[in-house]
This record gives sequence, C-alpha cells and structure tokens, in this order.
Amino acid sequence: MARRARLVSEDRAYEVRTVDDARRVADDQVGSWGLRGATGFGLPEVDDRYHVWRVPVLAATGAARVGEIVIDARAGTVDARRSTDVETVRARLASPDTSGAPSHRGPVIARSTLSNTVLAGDSELTLRDLPDGSVDLVFTSPPYFNARPDSGDFVDYRAYLDKMRRVFRQCTRVLAEGRFLIVNTAPVLLRRSSRSQSSRRLAVPFDLHAILVEEGLDFVDDIVWEKPEGAGWATGRGRRFAADRSPLQYKAVPVTEYVLVYRNHTDRLIDWNIRSHHDPDAVARSRISGEYERTNVWRLAPASRRDHPAVFPASLAERVIRYWSFEGDVVLDPFAGIGTVGMAAARLGRRFVLSEVEERYLAVIRRELAAWLTS
Ligand SMILES: C[S@@+](CC[C@H](N)C(=O)[O-])C[C@H]1O[C@@H](n2cnc3c(N)ncnc32)[C@H](O)[C@@H]1O
Repeated sequence: MARRARLVSEDRAYEVRTVDDARRVADDQVGSWGLRGATGFGLPEVDDRYHVWRVPVLAATGAARVGEIVIDARAGTVDARRSTDVETVRARLASPDTSGAPSHRGPVIARSTLSNTVLAGDSELTLRDLPDGSVDLVFTSPPYFNARPDSGDFVDYRAYLDKMRRVFRQCTRVLAEGRFLIVNTAPVLLRRSSRSQSSRRLAVPFDLHAILVEEGLDFVDDIVWEKPEGAGWATGRGRRFAADRSPLQYKAVPVTEYVLVYRNHTDRLIDWNIRSHHDPDAVARSRISGEYERTNVWRLAPASRRDHPAVFPASLAERVIRYWSFEGDVVLDPFAGIGTVGMAAARLGRRFVLSEVEERYLAVIRRELAAWLTS
C-alpha cells in the first residue's frame, strides 16, 4: 500500500496541521465576529516560510473573496494584524461586488488629502501624523548601517534592523491598499579593524526583505540597478584575488544595488487600483509611452552631490515614480536626504511627502523646494 507523504505542517510540528484544523480556527474567528452564516472558506494554504496558514474567507452567496484569516501555525491562534479586519469583511459582504464573481471593480478610491509636505524629524515619529492609507507610493533608500565605532547611530545591526522595521511599519500603515513600496538597498561591507580579522558583508536587502514581508507587504520584483564599469572598485574588494589568484580568495567587486518592489497586501487585483482611481483622466495621462525598461536589470549612472554622501540619481526616482504612480498621487520618502524623490515627484506632477531627520539635509530641501515647484 502506498504510504502517505508527510505534510510540511507535520515536519514542522505545527500546532495546526491540516486544512480541517485551519478551517476550525478560522471558523471560531468568524463565529466571534457573528458572521458564520454569511461566510464560507476557500482552500487553506500553509506558508512555512512565515509559519502561517492563510484561510480565504468567502461570501456565502456568490463565493466572492471578502478577506483572509492568517493563523500562526505554531501557536494555533489567529494573527489579527495580518488578517483582514472584521469591518472590512462586513463592508465587503455588504457591497454589491460580493454578490457575484470576484471583481476588480469597487467603490472609487478616495483622493488623498495630503499636499506637498516636508516633515522634520525621525520618521518613526513624524509619519504618525499621516492618516492611514493617505500615500500612493513609497520610494526610499534607507540609511546605511555603519558599524564604525564613531558613528554612534545604531548600537548594533539588530538595533538598525529593529529601527527599519518600526519606520517601515508606519510606511505600510500610511500606504493605500494595493499600492507599492519600493526600496533601494545594497549589502554593506564592514571593514576589518585589524589585519588578523576578516571583513564582513551584511546582506541588508535580504534582512530588510524578511521584515517587509512580515509587516504585510507582498514581494513583487527584485530589480538590479547596475552601475557602469568602474563603480564599486573603490571598495578594494577583489584586490587580493587579483594579485594571487588563489581559490577561496575570490571576491566579486560590487557594481549593483537592489530596487526591491512590494505591494501593500490586498485581496484585490492591480486592475482594481487602476479602474477605481478617483481621477480616470490622470490615469490616462500617466500612461507610459515609448521606450521602457523591459527587464529587471536597470543600467543607470550613480549620482553624487557635495551636500549629501548617499543620494540616488534623479533618473532612478523618476523611473520608479512613472512606473508605480499616477499624476496627482502622493509619493512618500521617509529617508528623504536632500529630497531627490520630492524633486522627481514635483517634475512629474505628483505630490510629495518627505521626512528627514538631519537638519543640514532639510536645509537643502527648503532651499531647493521652490525651484522644484516652478520648473
Ligand atoms: C541613503 S540616504 C537617502 C538619500 C536620498 N535618497 C537622496 O537622494 O537624497 C538616507 C537618509 O535617511 C536619513 N535618516 C536616517 N534615519 C532617519 C530617520 N529615523 N528618520 C528620517 N530620516 C532618517 C539620513 O539622514 C539620510 O539623509
């Protein structure tokens, strides 16, 4: 007799092992909402990267998807932060869309009330003043983790990642449903402090990725920004191998950074974001005509400025804004530097919200802002 393959959930010794177990937990949740008769469930799926079960919640009539219950597979409890909240489920059940097949149409998405804004201070705090869902795109390049003893910014790498999590949690909250968050990031080289030590490279993009997904964003694309020949050689990486060519000493000279693309979690299709936009004319005007980047390798020259050590090029900001927002939308950069995102947003007829903690960079933004808005 054929033996049954072991389930992932059994290998992982989860508390919730089968689809029936997952449905039971979801059913208790729906019962506590008083919606048992109004809903049913789709097929539960286990996601062992994040140790969760995802149970689609369907309308009892028409079987449209009205939400998702996420269960912590190890604890056997509902993860309320990642699950669709009861008000949203109720609203979807009441909407005419749920009476038939799932649709990409829905009520018109309200226009954000935000106007061009520069917030001075730590984004973990400044973003708290922005309403939920009031931003249409986040594009940013987080500060580098710097382990030099004189930097004093972060006690250690763990503290750095925790800080990034708290800022990105705010970004996810203010980002509208189904809209995009895009992060320019690269591994960081920690130089050795003596010849008897090795240098260390921190895989910042991969650590940030885990955080962003845990904070409720769905991964969409890993774009590689390739800098022209010559960039990266100043790091000195690979010199030793170039000299003695010994196996194991090989190290690649870094000439790339990542542009990681995420979408704020939603059960709705991207079509919904497009068709339900409050300004169909702006949607039509924002179409990208002519040439565009077809692959996930983007070749762009880096930028440099005297007044900031780590700016990204305006061409990168412009490309991201054109591909992932519409005219009139609000674009947020929580690590604004001298405001490259704001300048590009203004040029492209978008609104911007910039948040920056360092007074010397805020001074540059304030000085240049009027020119962005008039040019
Ligand atoms: C890599 S730079 C971004 C540069 C920017 N893309 C530009 O082109 O000007 C990161 C910026 O984040 C700022 N920053 C670091 N921590 C911050 C925080 N908690 N809140 C706001 N800004 C912060 C730093 O001062 C720095 O200017």
